[in-house]
Amino acid sequence: MAQGVQNGIGGVKFPEYKQFFSRVGTRSKNSAIRDTFDATVGPKQLLMVAGLPNPELFPILSTEITLKDGTKVKIDEQSQKDGLQYQSTKGMPELKDWLIELQRRVHNPPTLGREDHPGQMELMIIAGCQDGISTCFRILLNEGDTALIQNPSYPTMFNMIESIGATPVGIDSDEHGIIPSKMRHLLENWETVNPVNKKAPRPKVLYCIPTGENPRSASWSFERRQAVYEICREFDLLIMEDDPYYFTYFNRPLPHSMLSIDVDGRVLRFDSFSKMMCPGLRLGYMSGPRPVMMKMLAIYMSTTAQASAVSQMTLMAIFRKWGYEGFMRQCDKVSQFLKQQAGYFVDAATIYLSDVAEWTIPDSGMFLWLRFKDCEDATDIIDKCFQQGLFVLGGCNATVGKPASPYVRIAYCLCTKEDIIEACKIMARVAKEERKACK
Ligand SMILES: Cc1ncc(COP(=O)(O)O)c(C=O)c1O
Repeated sequence: MAQGVQNGIGGVKFPEYKQFFSRVGTRSKNSAIRDTFDATVGPKQLLMVAGLPNPELFPILSTEITLKDGTKVKIDEQSQKDGLQYQSTKGMPELKDWLIELQRRVHNPPTLGREDHPGQMELMIIAGCQDGISTCFRILLNEGDTALIQNPSYPTMFNMIESIGATPVGIDSDEHGIIPSKMRHLLENWETVNPVNKKAPRPKVLYCIPTGENPRSASWSFERRQAVYEICREFDLLIMEDDPYYFTYFNRPLPHSMLSIDVDGRVLRFDSFSKMMCPGLRLGYMSGPRPVMMKMLAIYMSTTAQASAVSQMTLMAIFRKWGYEGFMRQCDKVSQFLKQQAGYFVDAATIYLSDVAEWTIPDSGMFLWLRFKDCEDATDIIDKCFQQGLFVLGGCNATVGKPASPYVRIAYCLCTKEDIIEACKIMARVAKEERKACK
């Protein structure tokens, strides 16, 4: 497990949180029912405030999970009842506490446990990163706003921002992360160089994926993380650190997260169990400064209500058995598998695709980000690969403001070594045919 990181950054600049909230965020209030209910979860109380079904009527008695190594995990009767019942919006207390300790061990956030800090770190369990992030965009963005987004990026995020009526503004990145000089130039000259219009409001938030970037599967260097953090302090931006691939990092120690250097309380970090455990659980956890987390809770109270307690109960039962060491072993196993898959792809691509393409060598994540040489728009190549049974994602989907792109994103987690070789042969054949057709 990575050691907690000591920050080396100077004086603290607390964000004025209120000014970051959208109209939705400002208006959102805690639900009276959930507020009282959340306060009573845990100790035995006479609970007559919420419409809780009587657990005696639940049709499920017990569950026994068999893990792949043969270990049996039995969910005891009380945990079973809790897992079938409504639960605290923040998440089931035992799992929430377990995760706070995990954050402490892995990231040692400077604001964790700091009662004196207005941005003291809090944590809540979310129904996957995607749900947490879309809720967070809603509390931060109004129609007409802009949001900075690492470019290229996870395509779904563009949809989230655009559906609010805000505009994602891409900042170019390379295999070491966002390019600080480009970010600074954009922010220093916002009125004249922003791609929206002269009157576009300045952004209040940066969305980024610092480890195992989707689509590039590269991780930012520590220097880039520090440089981007400093720019965000200077221009007073909140940072949404979407990090579902954090533990996929192929080597150890794990990288320094943005949360680990966040002395101010401006990082909103999203972790997911989708890649390390299983996406069907629909579970993740968000860590961030208290005022933002209070708004997240308020919206969750009136929407999702809570992440699935059945999933939380299942996960907690496994973690009780494994402890932190067991969870880290699982993370190591996943990252080693992905490292091997990425290696197969890079080896096959080197043999079959070197003439027609170049790519970033993954250090984490699940994708190969590949650029076809002498090509401005890979659409025809993608269509022809599709006709031959190979489905890849066009890079234009992952790039802000670029309707045509020579890039493709290829997911390598599910396929066998033979599939990977076959895919490389198909892409090489198609790309060569396309080149001939162009001449
Ligand atoms: C960058 C990024 N963020 C978020 C998600 C969604 O994660 P979750 O399954 O936890 O909702 C994904 C899924 O692929 C992703 O690549």
